[in-house]
Amino acid sequence: MYKIIKKEMLNPTVCRMVVEAPRLAKAAAPGQFLIVLTDSKGERIPLTISDYDPEKGTVTIVTQKIGVSSCNIVAMECGDSFAGVVGPLGKASDFMEMPLEELRKEHFIFIAGGVGTAPVYPQAKWLHERGVAVDVIIGAKTGDLLIYKEEMASVCSALHICTDDGSEGFHGMVTALLEKLVAEGRKYTRAVAIGPMIMMKFTTLTCRKLGLPVTVSLNTLMVDGTGMCGACRVSVGGKTRFACVDGPEFDGYEVDFDEAMRRQGQYRTEERQAIENQGRA
Ligand code: NAD
Ligand code: FES
Repeated sequence: MYKIIKKEMLNPTVCRMVVEAPRLAKAAAPGQFLIVLTDSKGERIPLTISDYDPEKGTVTIVTQKIGVSSCNIVAMECGDSFAGVVGPLGKASDFMEMPLEELRKEHFIFIAGGVGTAPVYPQAKWLHERGVAVDVIIGAKTGDLLIYKEEMASVCSALHICTDDGSEGFHGMVTALLEKLVAEGRKYTRAVAIGPMIMMKFTTLTCRKLGLPVTVSLNTLMVDGTGMCGACRVSVGGKTRFACVDGPEFDGYEVDFDEAMRRQGQYRTEERQAIENQGRA
């Protein structure tokens, strides 16, 4: 159960794995996530579902080496199994509830930053397969860190690339590219931004300036993933919400990003310490 049947590195720190999880694959929908345990005593790690295949009974997960637990996941190989996989968790993307004839009047622009590109893929694919207009911006620090370029190109009508250093595509951040595309006359009706919290904050500010509604996907700290522990608490529209059960997607205009970023960074010292301790072990 939960055996890794395919593993590949998408860049030096980002790994894609295809995992056997038949029940999860049948139930998964765009926008949702899952939690994995590498062993029975391991930390519960929330991960992006970047694809799912109900027929083959597999889900595809994408992990970036950041802390000790994510490094342990990336160290696993084909044939290894996770001790547990919980999910699908969270709500599916809200556009799935819209009647198809209404959705086909929309023109989506997805703004994907770094490893946040992986969860954009199933959303763009779901819409594209149903004839909805989808454009995608993918941003990364450098060209060699870009992921999902070919996959994304196959599920959207226009793919726009940008890099912070200008090594590939537009030279600048996703927000500057979005403004440029709109200034050139492209018309979008809805935006979805997924990536680092700081990117989602500034993309939301840009969308507000452009009069564009924006949905963001919050990758907060999580423990149980079922609304019990409160670790994923965020303020949305002045109310406390739990990203694991009320989200992870929220109206960007309503999110208190500064508070979310403070909470996200609260264990940074401990994380750094754990990495140093592992290096010494
Ligand atoms: P990164 O730091 O390289 O940023 C990716 C792109 O985001 C940049 O190239 C830039 O275009 C844009 N960006 C960054 N800061 C910005 C700003 N201030 N204004 C406008 N645009 C900005 O990305 P990375 O290192 O791959 O990101 C890793 C982060 O993504 C981790 O913190 C991870 O937790 C998070 N993540 C989020 C999700 C999610 O669901 N939201 C999913 C996976 C990973
Ligand atoms: Fe515990 Fe959301 S992760 S309440």
